[in-house]
Amino acid sequence: MSVLKLNYDPPFNITRLSHVNLTSRDLDVTRHFYEKGLGLEVTAHEKNYLSFRSLEETSHHSLVFEKKETKNPGICKSVGYRVYKDEDLKIAFDYFNEIGYQAEFIERPHQGLTLCLKDSVGSCIEFCSSMPQKKSHMQNFHKHSGGKLAFLDHVQIITHDVPKAYEFYNEIGFRLAEYTAKDKTDEMWGVWLKRKNNTQDVVFSNGSGPQLHHFAFHTPEVSNVIHAADVMASLNLANSMDRPPGRHGIGNAFFIYFRDPDGHRVELFTSHYNVIDINQKPKRWDLSDTRRSQLWGFPAPKKWFYEATQFENSSIKKPSLNAKPVTLEDFLKTW
Ligand SMILES: [Fe+2]
Repeated sequence: MSVLKLNYDPPFNITRLSHVNLTSRDLDVTRHFYEKGLGLEVTAHEKNYLSFRSLEETSHHSLVFEKKETKNPGICKSVGYRVYKDEDLKIAFDYFNEIGYQAEFIERPHQGLTLCLKDSVGSCIEFCSSMPQKKSHMQNFHKHSGGKLAFLDHVQIITHDVPKAYEFYNEIGFRLAEYTAKDKTDEMWGVWLKRKNNTQDVVFSNGSGPQLHHFAFHTPEVSNVIHAADVMASLNLANSMDRPPGRHGIGNAFFIYFRDPDGHRVELFTSHYNVIDINQKPKRWDLSDTRRSQLWGFPAPKKWFYEATQFENSSIKKPSLNAKPVTLEDFLKTW
């Protein structure tokens, strides 16, 4: 599949990634990891519900956990997007149901009207237009701690069919900023799709899916990413680091990844760039070009590519594209 013509007039107006709904086996343990370790603010902690926001966010939550009694790892209940108005949700309801998706309105705590469905590759998604508002903590510098996280920026979802996901999101106005394709072909391995001003709100990468690979919070300084690692170490949480700091070629992100107590992968990063003008062409990367994943440093370990969070009530399908990324284990054989 080659690059699609962007739908400049989508049926309704999505503004950005909004929030992620996950499960936790122990909300107190989850709270310790995100509040004391990474520095998020707890905005609600109820018997079976825990929510967080980061420093620049004025909405009630960007990260939500529902308690689930199980011995299994956590699951993803949904990935949430924001639209401008409730009217957009009504248009979205008609749009999705007319083209064969089962979209329905649901109740979610601490947010307005919410539309829920499964996308073309089986990921659970929801849309809402409003949440209770509070003042941000951007200039409450005495409250900045951990990774000093500013806002939820993007999610990455592993899918068995990247082109199918790309078509679905292109039709509702997501724009391709960067992509990875199998060498010398147009077979897409990954697509970086955006609504807001920077490189991505959602990434789809090739693999057994749908699975949530990670969600990512932006912080304004490289030193904040490193400080988060120091804080995690001082809390004896350093072993939760899933991939050490480095810089992605794609998106230019200086990153670090952790796995939370339920196995959910969270990225802290800085230095994405603006993609705004519509004549700016998507940037292509060959799959074998390891600079796409790290401009410097070692490749990610195999588990980073293949372990992820399952979506609720979704069966996992094997990928249609057989293209393997270069892993740390592969790299060390030649080093
Ligand atoms: Fe990311």
